[in-house]
Amino acid sequence: MTVHFIGAGPGAPDLLTLRGRDLIAASPVCLYAGSLVPQAVLAHCPPGARIINTASLSLNDIIAEIADAHDAGQDVARLHSGDLSVWSAMGEQLRRLRALQIPYTVTPGVPAFAAAAATLGAELTLPGLAQSVVLTRTSGRASAMPAGETLAAFAATGAVLAIHLSVHVLDRVLAELTPHYGSDCPVAVVWRASWPDERVARATLGTLDAAIAGQMERTAIILVGRTLGTETFETSRLYAADYDRRFRPTGTSPRFPEGV
Ligand SMILES: C[S@@+](CC[C@H](N)C(=O)[O-])C[C@H]1O[C@@H](n2cnc3c(N)ncnc32)[C@H](O)[C@@H]1O
Repeated sequence: MTVHFIGAGPGAPDLLTLRGRDLIAASPVCLYAGSLVPQAVLAHCPPGARIINTASLSLNDIIAEIADAHDAGQDVARLHSGDLSVWSAMGEQLRRLRALQIPYTVTPGVPAFAAAAATLGAELTLPGLAQSVVLTRTSGRASAMPAGETLAAFAATGAVLAIHLSVHVLDRVLAELTPHYGSDCPVAVVWRASWPDERVARATLGTLDAAIAGQMERTAIILVGRTLGTETFETSRLYAADYDRRFRPTGTSPRFPEGV
């Protein structure tokens, strides 16, 4: 018996990985985080599967369900939205499973920030403008931010920020970021990226408030940075015709002789 943690992706059911789909189909028990995992993904569960929405369960309840499946020798598919490496509460479940010596696997999923960038048609890292993306959030009722992980501290680096769980405190976000990026810095908010009711607002830090006109649905990513919506950036050396590289040796004495 194994518990398969599976990133269910950002919303569109066809953004689930093939591995995730197959593990769901092979597991007689499915626990899913109800608020953001699309119902269509549950259609992959085998007939007669025990399917439980964990939205109203405590950690103890969830572990009890897993322990029951373990006793019955039944594999469990455990679904969380997006990818499991950020804000999935997987860590605390894995810790309990390790203590109980219950085996598990982890299958990654498409994270929401990547789905939001895809909606915008944006490469977040562009040569000469930004080469780092910070996945972050602001303090919430359930999770305080560690000292030092402030928006202002990240903004001071000039990196692109992908701010989660924060659209309801947009005023505070704009106030913290504007002194660092400037009020003309591009910003985009993507609500429910990849869902049928996805919405997008593109603006600058100075105009965003007016642009979103009170749309406060909470499932949204705020992307901020100089790489958004610009055509003014350097061309990468990677595809430059004169760039000598391992897979395309150029010149009279290539740095990487063919086949080495
Ligand atoms: C608990 S976190 C889950 C993050 C998820 N594990 C991931 O990999 O993206 C939930 C937050 O992720 C963001 N989010 C999740 N799905 C989203 C989507 N489809 N579109 C925009 N933001 C989304 C929102 O900021 C939301 O408040």
